[in-house]
Amino acid sequence: MNNPAFATHRKIGGDLEVSRMGYGAMRLTGQPGNWGPYPDPEAARTVLRRAVAIGINLIDTAHAYGAGYNEGLIAEALHPYDANLVITTKCGLTKMGPGIAYRDGRRKAIRTGCEASLSHLRLERIDLLQLHWVDEDTPIEETVGALAELVKDGKVRHVGVSNVTLDELERARSVMPIASVQNRFSFADRSQMDIVRYCIEHDITFFPYGPLDGNPAKIGAPLADQTGVLAAEAAKRSCTPSQFALAWLLALSPVIVPIPGTRSVAHLEENAAALKVQLTQADAAAL
Ligand SMILES: NC(=O)c1ccc[n+]([C@@H]2O[C@H](COP(=O)([O-])OP(=O)(O)OC[C@H]3O[C@@H](n4cnc5c(N)ncnc54)[C@H](OP(=O)(O)O)[C@@H]3O)[C@@H](O)[C@H]2O)c1
Repeated sequence: MNNPAFATHRKIGGDLEVSRMGYGAMRLTGQPGNWGPYPDPEAARTVLRRAVAIGINLIDTAHAYGAGYNEGLIAEALHPYDANLVITTKCGLTKMGPGIAYRDGRRKAIRTGCEASLSHLRLERIDLLQLHWVDEDTPIEETVGALAELVKDGKVRHVGVSNVTLDELERARSVMPIASVQNRFSFADRSQMDIVRYCIEHDITFFPYGPLDGNPAKIGAPLADQTGVLAAEAAKRSCTPSQFALAWLLALSPVIVPIPGTRSVAHLEENAAALKVQLTQADAAAL
């Protein structure tokens, strides 16, 4: 049974209901450099279909993953989509080759990126479009203004931001409501705690990316647990260190929706079962 202390769902922007445990699809692309198709597309489709089958209704991707291939793979595996499936994607980062990308937050790039995502995902409207990275050469107000236009045009339902500072988040919120923030955050890496606190205070959905401290440059690297705390806490609760790391995020606040990434069905199922780990908000805060 799931831990009753964990809300099982979160409403992004107040009305877009997603499972508390999402799935990050980024790793289902060609490596190294997150470029081109995943070498075993049937295995990738199996992971995506299994995620939906076990009740995960949130899949996170980006146009830059692949580039375009990750979104296309999701459509191949899951289209026509279940009515409650939420696919979140990102714009504002143009990928040119393996590991080569540049940020472009100009209005034209945001509109072009949105059209490309709509086409790859075979959607009429994107439920949540996130600004992948802030382009330092374009005022964030211009970029978010372009996203607001896409909402008015009916092409996007909610807007989120990623890899932002507090100042950038506040500037974005001065233009339009920001439904979500996606920054790096995990048990092992709490450098973005100020943003997490801000999201909790303002009831903004927070997607911690790299929730298992995954690093795209270290494919398949094990979870960092230099102090052994994860292993010890996991042993106390008869769960795995990965499950404990995810449960810690779930327990911290109901605004937090982890999006762990994996290429393996076994890890996918293990991660989803983190919802069962017995951990209270007070325990999580104490750790
Ligand atoms: N906004 C951004 O700039 C940004 C940047 C990075 C990521 N993201 C998003 O965040 C998602 C997750 O990030 P991430 O994939 O970099 O990091 P992560 O979820 O922290 O870690 C993924 C890594 O952990 C391994 N793993 C997963 N489950 C495991 C388990 N139960 N036991 C042991 N190892 C396990 C995976 O290997 P296996 O494949 O072998 O399971 C993979 O190497 C991405 O898919 C993407 O949607 C966003």
